[in-house]
Amino acid sequence: MKKLVITTVIALMGLAPAMTMASPQEDLKKFRSYYFKKFPGVKLQRYADGIYGINEGRRIEWEAMEEFPPYEPGVEIGKELFEKYNIGKCFKNGGIGIRQNYPWFNKKTGKVHTLEGDIMSCLKKNGVDTKKAKIGFKKGKMAAISAYMGYTSRGKKLNVVVPNDERALKIYNRGKRHFYAKRGQLNMSCADCHMYYAGMMARGNVLSPALGHVTGFPVYRKKWEFKGGGNPALAGFGTIQRRYGGCNKQVRAKPFKAQKAEYTALEYFHTYMSNGIKVNAPSIRQ
Ligand code: HEC
Repeated sequence: MKKLVITTVIALMGLAPAMTMASPQEDLKKFRSYYFKKFPGVKLQRYADGIYGINEGRRIEWEAMEEFPPYEPGVEIGKELFEKYNIGKCFKNGGIGIRQNYPWFNKKTGKVHTLEGDIMSCLKKNGVDTKKAKIGFKKGKMAAISAYMGYTSRGKKLNVVVPNDERALKIYNRGKRHFYAKRGQLNMSCADCHMYYAGMMARGNVLSPALGHVTGFPVYRKKWEFKGGGNPALAGFGTIQRRYGGCNKQVRAKPFKAQKAEYTALEYFHTYMSNGIKVNAPSIRQ
């Protein structure tokens, strides 16, 4: 009887990976090996490319788009804004080649910082009236500045640190819970679509693996580009938290606010899972 109970408990633990309190390092190892088993032969760096890393046909279209990258004018504008607003001043190394360290945990305050969050604080510190300049968190000018900073970090491996600090682990685990929790009318989790069904079709889309997800963000997305409004060179850009909102809506769940605790925790966990993959921002997406 005792043996049966123990086996049942072990079996239940296997069913509920989100409930066990593994260390981030252990999580990462399991996360990666899940995809390596699912997509044998796909090398780690390929996961930076979303669906184009796992689907050859779509990869050919994608490589064709890269020949005349539609994000280039926007990255140029991002650079101009970065200089105009003196953003480099607020960052290590003048803000160049640092994307891979985001999000980071601040031991002094116990908070996690995202790149867009730090850009916003910098703008405010430099006296920019962000409302008047129409700079928000998810797209447009903010995404362009972030895309430029990501562009200068291309080729650097993501290196998110979750220190052994209760406060950091709490935020990390909150993000992890979000990733595995079912939500919305469709009652589906991020993991359902981007782990268990990765590579399969959902309404005409191939579902991308979550491994590698954040490396290309902000992305330049065709769908966003054609929605119009604002500067056409910037319209295609969206930050990772813009994407979170879209994916929450896909399952008919109410999205959370960008740059508040919930999505920042998700971004912390989600990016950590891609540690070791090189930044390729801004990436093109359909
Ligand atoms: C019902 C299925 C579904 C769920 C649930 C879902 N997504 Fe998505 N997601 C998609 C589809 C479809 C796309 C577009 C195709 C692709 O890139 O996977 C997408 C795209 C993305 C992308 C862009 C990938 C890239 O390479 O550009 C990210 C990041 C993402 N989802 C994160 C999440 C997160 C985080 C969650 C949980 C909050 C989530 N998704 C929940 C269906 C889903």
